[in-house]
Amino acid sequence: MKLLFNSQIDDPAEWIPELLAHMPDLEIEVWPKIADPKAIDAALVFTPPPDGLGRYPNLKAILSLGAGVNQLGLESLPRGIPVARLVDPGLTETMRDYCVWAVLGHHRGLDVHVKHQPQRRWIHTIPPPKSSVSVGVMGLGKLGAVVARTMADLGFQVRGWSRSPKTIDGVASFSGQDGLSGFAAKADILICLLPLTGETRGILARPLFEMLPGGARLINVGRGDHLVEPDLLAALDSGQLGGATLDVFQREPLAPEHPFWAHPKITITPHVAAFGSPETAAPVVVENLKRALAGRPLVDQVDVDRGY
Ligand code: NDP
Ligand code: OXD
Repeated sequence: MKLLFNSQIDDPAEWIPELLAHMPDLEIEVWPKIADPKAIDAALVFTPPPDGLGRYPNLKAILSLGAGVNQLGLESLPRGIPVARLVDPGLTETMRDYCVWAVLGHHRGLDVHVKHQPQRRWIHTIPPPKSSVSVGVMGLGKLGAVVARTMADLGFQVRGWSRSPKTIDGVASFSGQDGLSGFAAKADILICLLPLTGETRGILARPLFEMLPGGARLINVGRGDHLVEPDLLAALDSGQLGGATLDVFQREPLAPEHPFWAHPKITITPHVAAFGSPETAAPVVVENLKRALAGRPLVDQVDVDRGY
């Protein structure tokens, strides 16, 4: 089997030995050094190469190097070829850990204490019990379900919102557009773990912020385009929102002059909420290469029309 590899952020020198350890007869060509496009069986890419994936007539699978697939430009991929996203165990664990850090940071006021330090201010605040605070998770997929369950284990009230209803122990399920306002009405700390699609773009905006309890906190670990940036600034300035932790941005890296950097109620991390590694991800990729060769459905296959 011949695999095309293309990524601006993943190092092929780290990936190739891990993939070969699980599939020794795999041949890997790193774009643009592709000897014969007709010989390529599958593509492993963060984004398609600049000249697209249409020139590989024998492609059997397109495997994303990311858990999100919006950056693949699903509508421009050759039709009829199965697409899979990549959720490896390391990614799930790191996303869970990041959300624990961010939620506890807001709940315990750690974000505020950190800002007091340069001012040498000793301000003693005791948070309410976790059992009286509600964490709302938007998106109850592979990552969101684990995050929601973890928040319940920590002792928070937890509610989740997804397209279809879910049964997760300790998590109140809300679904669809009709369920959004009921979900939001009691989300003191809101986590966005939605995929970016035509339906979810711009969802973190004034209408949603106005549904939340006053002073609610926002954690965006989905995609930057979920957020309407001026609406966030207005909601923070009016007090409708009490603070935000943002890991993803419309433009990454965030420009030095962007107002988010200096905003006293915003904590920024540079798209590091979750990360897999070639070591933990290679078995997942190789399983999908074997499935593609056998013509079987892929693990975490994307519904291209739905967008995730
Ligand atoms: P999944 O595809 O497993 O789950 C997506 C969830 O969102 C599902 O529960 C789905 O509902 C729900 N959903 C989708 N569209 C809608 C909608 N219109 N209304 C309500 N709910 C909707 O995704 P993952 O959990 O694996 O990942 C989520 C996202 O996290 C990724 O797409 C990516 O953008 C982001 N991410 C960010 C990272 C970071 O480092 N910051 C790292 C990895 C991922 P249903 O279950 O009913 O289909
Ligand atoms: C991903 C990401 O989608 O890192 O995997 O955001």
